[in-house]
Amino acid sequence: MYILGIETSCDETSVALLRADGEVRCNLISSQIARHQPFGGVVPEIASREHLVHLFPLLEEALRQSGASWNEVETIAVTAGPGLIGALLVGVSAAQGLSYALGIPLVAVNHLEGHLFSPFLSASGAAIPLPPRFLSIVISGGHSSIYDVVTADGRLEIEMLNRTRDDAIGETFDKVAKFVGLPYPGGPQVERLARAGKADRKRFPFPVPQFKESSVDFSFSGLKAGAIRWARQYRVGEDQAALADFCATFQDALFEQLFSRLDTIWQQIRRSAPPRPREIALAGGVAANGVLRERMQAWGRQHDVMVRLPEKRFCTDNAAMIAFAGLQRRREAGDPRLVKAYSRMLVGGPRILGETSAPLVRPS
Ligand code: KG4
Ligand code: ZN
Repeated sequence: MYILGIETSCDETSVALLRADGEVRCNLISSQIARHQPFGGVVPEIASREHLVHLFPLLEEALRQSGASWNEVETIAVTAGPGLIGALLVGVSAAQGLSYALGIPLVAVNHLEGHLFSPFLSASGAAIPLPPRFLSIVISGGHSSIYDVVTADGRLEIEMLNRTRDDAIGETFDKVAKFVGLPYPGGPQVERLARAGKADRKRFPFPVPQFKESSVDFSFSGLKAGAIRWARQYRVGEDQAALADFCATFQDALFEQLFSRLDTIWQQIRRSAPPRPREIALAGGVAANGVLRERMQAWGRQHDVMVRLPEKRFCTDNAAMIAFAGLQRRREAGDPRLVKAYSRMLVGGPRILGETSAPLVRPS
């Protein structure tokens, strides 16, 4: 028996089939990056249309590759938000239709919860069991937050410990990269160039903001403004060596802020009531960054904490993580008619699904 995952919240159409133990049987992704690249960012209308074109062929291909039939699909999990509303509606409507026609329940998944659990998906075989409590760092193109996740005693409580007051970390990568003439998405481009450069905080004095009220929130807009200023001043777009050093310094400053907030949060959380978190999970598109992955592992060794890093294919948007989050929220699966798409949606906030209005039975 399988859970089917559907993800269409942004610029990747993705479909996955997972077994009940979290084993990923199939995870297909159709990326639209090439379609959006000429515009330097995602164009919502193009995204919706591309999802419409690719979703059904991907569904058929996923079943074919897994050797599964529709009768073996027990539950459907679909990204209900947050994301581009037109893009979300394509996946949600398709999932509703399938769920209704097949007489199987539908679970509405928060895209960010998809990222949050993704480090526990295994390369092959059953998923890694979720620890009773862990810290989760979700850093993507639209989001930057650290969460406290408790799963002990069958609970599923997710508390947001901080957020960004302005831009997300991935968004900052993308905007600054665009300014210096690099193609979208900027994160991997900055990482690639940074490898050839040397971080020099004297030449490029990027700020790491501290708030007066000792808040642990992130803020990346000052860094973005600084980056644009230095890029102009040193004309980094015209000089490859300067651009490499600029990228290395910019990336270093972004991660310095991340670790400064993590240090404070870790000190605070260790003083909280048990169970004590012994694992940290890093997730979201920016978690694909090799430098960050190494620094995170080093941080874990220093603090004697197990660090969970998602496989690179599970860092950026994919339906396997949506199906896996759907498994965690299985109890909320229900009537597809009650599911809606939400452009904004809080993690761990009020759930969307109400009571099932009519029992769903699989047609014989
Ligand atoms: O999770 P994701 O695919 O989509 C959102 O939900 O936003 O994340 C995409 C973001 C983009 O901003 C992209 O630049 C960033 O992840 N990203 C990276 C890397 N790979 C992707 N940022 C830094 N280094 C990378 N290697
Ligand atoms: Zn995402």
